[in-house]
Amino acid sequence: MKGGEDKIKIIEKRKEDHLKLCLRDEVETDFSAGFEDVHLIHMSVPDFDFDDVDTSCNLFGKKMDAPIIIEAMTGGAEIAHKVNTNIARAAEECGVAMGVGSVRAAIENKELWYTYQVREVAPSIPLISNLGLVQFSNGYGLDEMVEAVEAMEADALAIHLNPLQEVVQPEGDRKWKNSLDMVSDLMNHVNFPVIAKETGAGISREVAVKLEKAGFKAIDVGGVGGTSFAMVEHLRHDEESKNELGRVFKDWGVPTAISIVECSMSTSLPVIASGGVRGGLDGAKSIALGASYFGGARPFLKAAMESHEKVKEIIERWKAELKVAMFLVGARNLEELKKKNVVITGFVKEWLEARGINVKIFASRES
Ligand SMILES: Cc1cc2nc3c(=O)[nH]c(=O)nc-3n(C[C@H](O)[C@H](O)[C@H](O)COP(=O)(O)O)c2cc1C
Repeated sequence: MKGGEDKIKIIEKRKEDHLKLCLRDEVETDFSAGFEDVHLIHMSVPDFDFDDVDTSCNLFGKKMDAPIIIEAMTGGAEIAHKVNTNIARAAEECGVAMGVGSVRAAIENKELWYTYQVREVAPSIPLISNLGLVQFSNGYGLDEMVEAVEAMEADALAIHLNPLQEVVQPEGDRKWKNSLDMVSDLMNHVNFPVIAKETGAGISREVAVKLEKAGFKAIDVGGVGGTSFAMVEHLRHDEESKNELGRVFKDWGVPTAISIVECSMSTSLPVIASGGVRGGLDGAKSIALGASYFGGARPFLKAAMESHEKVKEIIERWKAELKVAMFLVGARNLEELKKKNVVITGFVKEWLEARGINVKIFASRES
């Protein structure tokens, strides 16, 4: 029992540390998400009005005003309740989706469920619960998977894949064997969609193919280019144990722009672009590269600590940027944006070509 209580306290403390550290700038990668290598083509003679641009879409049967997801961040600590509530209210008023951080803390200590439960203030948006894949090779099963979604009346569950974060922290989970097979089995027994989600190291096409085969219904690429959890772990342990592993592996993984292409070309699953997405223009580029939705975590954190109005300001800015980009490429809706020509240059081009992908296909979709 004592051991169990200690474990809960450690999880709660870690969550609070993550929030505090993620407010600092050094937690971002030096490596870019790659959007500067992705160029949309300007269209000088729009043949429709700006007000005709329609950014709406559907996710898990729910209508959204724009394909934006405020990505999983928190829960489990008192401050997290405020953060999640501010995000939820803003997301509801702006018609976008939201995820919460890993609900493991509440599964271990039911008193903490209130820090995640936001349905009351966000009755109509797509709401995504969250658990780690590694928990499923450490004792979690169907009950935990179902509780994760039902306890917060979510529409879907994101299962986060974070081997980088686990392996660079001394107390991280190291038992990953069979976790994907276990989750694959469990997904046959649930009636909600399950998303595979990275947390900042990106998803390659080899992994994307495995995830589709396993039965996931969407992929959130969580690529390199934004928040680095290796760096967060480095900073978290810096004073006590000088955790150098986190610093060395800070930029490890597949940059977001590349991961979007790798996942969308190798599977038929909807792809969510995240990891260093820093506005609606990055989002528009993501959709032209093959994503269906885009999201961000850290860009919303400071605002969410303050008020739901501050979160709304950022969402509205992202929406406005997306709409302007769509107007300027001549896309009336998201389906048209997906078919627009994109020129890919620099490092992203080099990587994709090295992987056998002809980037000219993107530049000559329509004439
Ligand atoms: C404070 C904080 C806590 C996070 N906690 C989780 C989590 O519990 N589960 C998860 O799947 N991702 C978590 N993430 C990762 C984000 O959802 C996202 O994948 C990552 O931060 C990259 O996006 P960004 O560059 O926009 O921040 C967290 C991110 C932040 C900033």
